[in-house]
Amino acid sequence: MRTVHIGLAGFGTVGSAVFRNLQSNAELLARRCGMRPEIVAIAAKNLSSRAGGAERAAARLLVRDLDVLVADSRVELIVELIGGCGVARRLILSSLRAGKPVVTANKALLAEHGREIFIESRRHGAPVWFEASVAGGIPLIQALREGLVANRFRLLYGIVNGTCNYILSRMTLEGAGFEEALREAQAQGFAEADPTFDIDGYDAAHKATVLASLVAGGCVNFRKVPVEGIRHITVEDIRFAQRLGYALKLLAIIRSLGPNHVEVRVHPTLIPVTNRLASIHGVTNAVMVRGSVVGDVEFSGPGAGGDATSSAVISDLMEAARHVVLQKERVKGAPLPQPPSAVGSVASRVAPAESIVSRYYLRLGVLDRPGVLARIASILGAAKIGISSVLQPEGHEGRVVPLILMTHDARHGAMLGALARIRRLPVVKSRPVVLRVETFES
Ligand SMILES: NC(=O)c1ccc[n+]([C@@H]2O[C@H](COP(=O)([O-])OP(=O)(O)OC[C@H]3O[C@@H](n4cnc5c(N)ncnc54)[C@H](OP(=O)(O)O)[C@@H]3O)[C@@H](O)[C@H]2O)c1
Repeated sequence: MRTVHIGLAGFGTVGSAVFRNLQSNAELLARRCGMRPEIVAIAAKNLSSRAGGAERAAARLLVRDLDVLVADSRVELIVELIGGCGVARRLILSSLRAGKPVVTANKALLAEHGREIFIESRRHGAPVWFEASVAGGIPLIQALREGLVANRFRLLYGIVNGTCNYILSRMTLEGAGFEEALREAQAQGFAEADPTFDIDGYDAAHKATVLASLVAGGCVNFRKVPVEGIRHITVEDIRFAQRLGYALKLLAIIRSLGPNHVEVRVHPTLIPVTNRLASIHGVTNAVMVRGSVVGDVEFSGPGAGGDATSSAVISDLMEAARHVVLQKERVKGAPLPQPPSAVGSVASRVAPAESIVSRYYLRLGVLDRPGVLARIASILGAAKIGISSVLQPEGHEGRVVPLILMTHDARHGAMLGALARIRRLPVVKSRPVVLRVETFES
């Protein structure tokens, strides 16, 4: 049986889990795939803190320098599990230039430097696999690239950040305030000590960029993706939304607008309580894909964690190993078919934030006085934004009360213009809360 030799870079949460799970499932993998994957070198700063059980075996394979992995003639493919856009980028580029396929879980790198990486990948005929970069253990990328290859993707939306979903679930189910829910997430190990990257939506935006590139068929520029996090969400808004029949989720939303043209965004979103994603709680990820042939397909499962993520990395690794074997053993001169369509190296157009159309939830703190609603409605009307429903808890005349408006479809640019005018009204006493509403009907 052919053994495929692997260089592993990074021995943290995911790297050590890949090593352990490859060892414990070696026979199963060999039986199922007809190949033996063997890690022959590990580039890591330090193994000692994680060395225990199977990891002790890793110490024998330790090399200090990432360049050694690429230069090692035994290494046939490289698994990058360092993260970030510094050394990981240099390692991947030099692996590809050496013709060595790469497996990575690095969404930040793919989102920010994906085009450079896919151009090098094509130039040197060395593919990149990246299943674990989005939604941890859920085989979503493989489904988009292979299982659903017959489809155009009209719409893809989902919960791709477990930290935010945990916090919003605690706020929804237990009425915890944002800060309290965040502290709990940190205590449970679901949020970093510095949670900025998750709660401000950047992690979800990296994943949305990777998914949008697959939907569009060409690289999406991360810097063009509108991002809004969940810091400003209050239990009050979650409760008003519930009264109106909606649940609040941080979603990545991607709509195809044609070849190499997409709408992509990340923001807290009100979705009908009847939508399946409304009942996805805790750190679970869930993604809905609307294919032109298959219709709606849902995926859900663990979006992070060493073991779950290593499941996705090992799946990629076996695919990459198959590619290596095919390439080395093909009849000389016969062209090797490309692996299922990766992200094209062309740049995709991204719809500007102002052009995006959705429904809106507005909460305004207004003086309880006759004529207030009419003035606000007339500003919205002038911007061609229709009101679909109004909720105003009973208050005392002359006091500040919440006024909740649900609108029909509106362009984001028109909504921003109308809000600027509404905020200037003397009867509006607090900064309006604005949330997008999506029903995903078409
Ligand atoms: N953790 C998850 O649940 C999860 C889920 C999906 C995707 N991912 C992705 O998987 C990748 C790895 O994540 P992780 O959670 O395993 O991170 P991690 O626990 O921080 O592990 C990264 C490892 O790389 C090591 N490293 C840093 N610079 C290095 C260098 N120059 N040479 C060799 N090793 C170096 C680090 O060592 P030091 O600690 O000594 O710096 C650390 O052990 C990231 O791209 C992440 O986005 C993670």
